[in-house]
Amino acid sequence: MPDLLHCPAFHVPQNLLTSLRAGRPAIWVRDTISGRTSLGLDVTDRIAEAARRFGNFRGALATLLGGEGWDGAICSRLTEWPTPGAARILVKQDHDLPVTGSIKARGGIHEVLTYVERIGRREGLLGAETGHAVLATESARTVFSRYRISVASTGNLGYSVGLAGRAFGLDVTVHMSRDAKAWKKDRLRALGATVVEHAGDYGEACAAARAEPRDDFSHFVDDENSPDLFCGYAVAAKELAEQLSRQAIHPTPDAPLVVYLPCGVGGAPGGITYGLKAIFGDSVVCVFVEPTASPAMFVALTSGAPADALPSVYDLGLDNRTLADGLAVARASALAVSAVRNAIDGMVTLSDATMLKASADSWAAAGLRLEPSAAAALAAISHFMERAQRAAGWPDLSRATHIAWLTGGARLPESEWQKQMAAARALC
Ligand SMILES: Cc1ncc(COP(=O)(O)O)c(C=O)c1O
Repeated sequence: MPDLLHCPAFHVPQNLLTSLRAGRPAIWVRDTISGRTSLGLDVTDRIAEAARRFGNFRGALATLLGGEGWDGAICSRLTEWPTPGAARILVKQDHDLPVTGSIKARGGIHEVLTYVERIGRREGLLGAETGHAVLATESARTVFSRYRISVASTGNLGYSVGLAGRAFGLDVTVHMSRDAKAWKKDRLRALGATVVEHAGDYGEACAAARAEPRDDFSHFVDDENSPDLFCGYAVAAKELAEQLSRQAIHPTPDAPLVVYLPCGVGGAPGGITYGLKAIFGDSVVCVFVEPTASPAMFVALTSGAPADALPSVYDLGLDNRTLADGLAVARASALAVSAVRNAIDGMVTLSDATMLKASADSWAAAGLRLEPSAAAALAAISHFMERAQRAAGWPDLSRATHIAWLTGGARLPESEWQKQMAAARALC
């Protein structure tokens, strides 16, 4: 077992580790807010390329997946949280992101686009003068049907890869961990994807998918290591910066942005943190939020272990059982850790009950339908603010703009939503 009491990375106090081990809520705050130099990998060019790719594919996506007048842009609204509190709160509505209703559309669809673009060039469909619209034609579909894409998922990544992959005509296989909800599997099967059900956790589903034989006609979306996923998420930072600028919000180190990001394997929050730090430096604070049973990133960071030998939550004696299915991950992504381990400014863990209650509260206060994973971002705000106020070297966060990144839920089926609300009511 790694020596988590000796923490070269953060000098984490022993009482914090005791709370983590006991499955109690825990909060960690970095000594000072990290700046641009904290970023660990150089993927700036790849992020710019990902932004261009989304732009190039807008027409093709609108053709294949449009319907209600959607223009093919994978963007979400930034809105004011209606309840007045100790500070200004905005919500980034990725829970309603086109076309899959979760943050995973950013990374998952980007990786599918990267793959079909590669096939398009290889098969001579896409030339220097050809627009990407050709990739949405019936003849391209016939070509794509000879290619396969596979992914492991707790639900939302699989749906994003599945929906986009099937729309282009790819053969899609999704390996689902034990945490994946039945309705998420059914939704994928209805798209014509193959769903492989695993009795083990997310890491095991990923390992099984990675081990499958591959050839020139197949591609594996590796959630624990994929730069294409990571850069797809990172594009969201530019989108947010433009929205803030339109609202005349200009963060500074004294009145920063504080962004609350639900974390599973770390790719989505990691990519967004990378993008935000590159733009705002120490005028943005990035806080990762995890379930008390699955604090994979918290454990990775506090251990100070190298990215290729990260401990898991099981090493701490935790069981990785949470109703926040999107965050039910035992070991963090090595890529995300390498990229942002020094850029994450705070970590918060929350109980399932707190996330459930936050989903009921957000429905009552704002009419937002969030899955527990997404409600975690809202629930973390008051806890983190209270703790950061006591940290020497930190600005007064009541002057900050707080952004809860709502990561999924708008497309929950009515029956699932009613079940979630009943579980929340039972807590009160
Ligand atoms: C709703 C939701 N929020 C957050 C996340 C976390 O993303 P990541 O696993 O990339 O950290 C997920 C992952 O599936 C998710 O489904």
